[in-house]
Amino acid sequence: MQHLTIQNTSIPALGLGTYGARGATAREIVRQALQEGYRHIDTAQFYANEEAVGQGIKKSGVAREAVFLVTKVWPSNLDKKRFLPSVKESLQKLQSGYVDLLLIHWPHHTLPLESYLAELAKAQEKGLTRFIGVSNFNISQLKQALDMGLPILTNQVEFHPFLDQSKLYQWMREHGVSLTAYSPLAQGKAATHPALQSIGKPYGKSAAQVALKWMLQLGGVMTIPKSINPKRLKENMDVFDFELSAEDMARIQELGRRDGRQVSAFHGADWD
Ligand SMILES: NC(=O)c1ccc[n+]([C@@H]2O[C@H](COP(=O)([O-])OP(=O)(O)OC[C@H]3O[C@@H](n4cnc5c(N)ncnc54)[C@H](OP(=O)(O)O)[C@@H]3O)[C@@H](O)[C@H]2O)c1
Repeated sequence: MQHLTIQNTSIPALGLGTYGARGATAREIVRQALQEGYRHIDTAQFYANEEAVGQGIKKSGVAREAVFLVTKVWPSNLDKKRFLPSVKESLQKLQSGYVDLLLIHWPHHTLPLESYLAELAKAQEKGLTRFIGVSNFNISQLKQALDMGLPILTNQVEFHPFLDQSKLYQWMREHGVSLTAYSPLAQGKAATHPALQSIGKPYGKSAAQVALKWMLQLGGVMTIPKSINPKRLKENMDVFDFELSAEDMARIQELGRRDGRQVSAFHGADWD
């Protein structure tokens, strides 16, 4: 497992995404992932699976302290009254006194950024989370967060070979904020892409493994592919025994397009 050292902590650079997995499916895949060596799990209030994720961690037999556990506060919980109670509810569901990383899931469309970032900082002060971060923030929103003096560990954004995020990535590198890649397989599309398949052949690796390796090799990037399939769960972890050549890194970079998003932004109406 590759680790990223940030804010004096070593974090597993590859984690398990859990969006769309619920109930017994989520519980079993989290248990299995931890038994396979995953040590970083990504969930969110919105995924309605925090309870199952907590059960999966318990069932795995892996010590809670050995797992880097991430959850996210949904926009409808960002107001001052709901923020901290919602985090406490998440912890209860997760059967844990803390998470390792707490993220703002999406910036709010009307509430001022400073108001909920202040609540995020409070969650850290109260020990509900070890680290804080954001998700789906653009450069100007990130700048506001850093200007408040907040130790933003990561910005979790859509990131895969078909989406050009180079401007945001460069800015974050320069400002010491790591990037967590969500939908790193472009929601599965990367797995059947002919260019990625042909790049993978000489290494004996699949297209999905090439996509994941590319982002891990860039530096400053963590990635959280989701799979509920035991075989693919293993496949996605099996990316630490090869290095992509500089030429192959450049070929993958060229696949990126400004309009290559898979995930469309949520709007206020979807939040409550
Ligand atoms: N912060 C945000 O706003 C945000 C937004 C989206 C996602 N996320 C997080 O990021 C995680 C990952 O993103 P995602 O779930 O959207 O998409 P993803 O990880 O890019 O792709 C998941 C899809 O690819 C398939 N897959 C996984 N590994 C594969 C492999 N080796 N070969 C072929 N197919 C494979 C999965 O199917 P099987 O399960 O059947 O294997 C699933 O259909 C989420 O689960 C969530 O934790 C965060």
